[in-house]
Amino acid sequence: MNKLPKHVAIIMDGNGRWANLQGKNRVSGHQQGAKSVREVVEEAVKMEIEFLTLYAFSTDNWSRPMEEVSLLMKLLVNSLKKEFKRLIKNNIRLQSIGNMDRLPNPVKEELSYVIEKTKNNTGMVLTLALNYGAKEEFTAAVKAIAFKVKNSIISPEKVDQSTIIEHLYTRNLPAVDLLIRTSGEERISNFLLWHIAYAELYFTRTLWPDFKKEDLQKALVDYTKRERRFGKTSEQLTS
Ligand code: IPE
Ligand code: IPE
Ligand code: MG
Repeated sequence: MNKLPKHVAIIMDGNGRWANLQGKNRVSGHQQGAKSVREVVEEAVKMEIEFLTLYAFSTDNWSRPMEEVSLLMKLLVNSLKKEFKRLIKNNIRLQSIGNMDRLPNPVKEELSYVIEKTKNNTGMVLTLALNYGAKEEFTAAVKAIAFKVKNSIISPEKVDQSTIIEHLYTRNLPAVDLLIRTSGEERISNFLLWHIAYAELYFTRTLWPDFKKEDLQKALVDYTKRERRFGKTSEQLTS
């Protein structure tokens, strides 16, 4: 049996379909989804998960109707305000990954405030992926490394995996152990490509607004039953 995962990442999907099924608008799906975030975060803390990374908004989500995008941004600001005390109480350190430049100012401001106020917390690291896309992340990393090579800050021979990792948004995160995606979709949608190289994938049909602590528990139990071989043989692991 595996130990519990150190780093859990979640693609929180299905808010829109949940709302449709209820005959409500998509935004109410996102509001309900925010409640799942609260419950799952608290459960992860209880389970002593060290790193929880949540895909909240992708670089491709800008293509959604403007109204939905702006309501999602408002919901984000409100949630950060509302959850702030709870983050402190749970000793959670908040951080974000993605390109912050394009986010609206109120989001940037609230996010920086919460990140700053929780930076000395010693419990779970909660990472929000906001305007995040793994391809954009790699492109920015390659560009930064290329500039350093050009300016003789690093020599090309010295470029190795750790050079790449150091230039990713995810530089201070360990590899993902368990990647969960809700809503029945079985794809990665440009999330964390480097760090999921050996992640165990867990797909569930449950829509994100219905995903509660029992569902997280179930995914964790499933994870503990998997054999992670990292290229070795099963015999090597048991000997
Ligand atoms: C996930 O739910 C939330 C975000 C991507 C922001 P969706 O909004 O993608 O829900 P579906 O896929 O339309 O059901
Ligand atoms: C992925 O969900 C992004 C987030 C959960 C934030 P999407 O719903 O945007 O993904 P696709 O478009 O179905 O692949
Ligand atoms: Mg979706």
